[in-house]
Amino acid sequence: MNFDYASIGSRLEELVKVSRQDLEKIPESHGWPHISDVMGYCVKIGKEEGADLSILLAAALLHDVGFLYGGKSRYHSKIGGEECVPYLEKAGYESHEIKRIQHCIKAHNVRYEGIEPETIEAKVLIDADTLDKIDEGSYERAYKYMEEYKMSEQEFARGRVESRERLLKEGKLWYTETGRKLIEPLIKKYLKYWKNKM
Ligand SMILES: [Fe+2]
Ligand SMILES: [Fe+2]
Repeated sequence: MNFDYASIGSRLEELVKVSRQDLEKIPESHGWPHISDVMGYCVKIGKEEGADLSILLAAALLHDVGFLYGGKSRYHSKIGGEECVPYLEKAGYESHEIKRIQHCIKAHNVRYEGIEPETIEAKVLIDADTLDKIDEGSYERAYKYMEEYKMSEQEFARGRVESRERLLKEGKLWYTETGRKLIEPLIKKYLKYWKNKM
């Protein structure tokens, strides 16, 4: 694999420098711990899938930036796909790269906003985001989400179980083979847990 780690490293570092202060203002359920976990999953899946990590990690870092600009949980990827541009320009990304990063961000909330992922980087980002919502750490974060959105446990559980089961049935719970390998073992426990709370 031909990854230019040095250039990813320094530009990503610059991107973190120009965006972190803002990203830390995102409410906790989509805030910094979520962002860094999604980046970790992106490295894991992205390497297996041959994704361009310089595009993928920049997109992962900024994927939920829309929450800072009026975005809500069902509508933040289109906004984020526009608001990410100044950060990327400041960090030195070129316009052809910015377009690819924007696509990943705009497509990451495909389940609500309907923009289909067209590149491997966009697909990996969706799987990484899904994983962080169903893994071991997701349960604690779910309760923070309920608090933030003033939602009852029952309401949350019902919504999550219905949507995940529907996606599973439609074959849309993952977009990559590596994502499938990681998501499949976790989803059973996730559904069982939340079904008990319905
Ligand atoms: Fe998101
Ligand atoms: Fe996210």
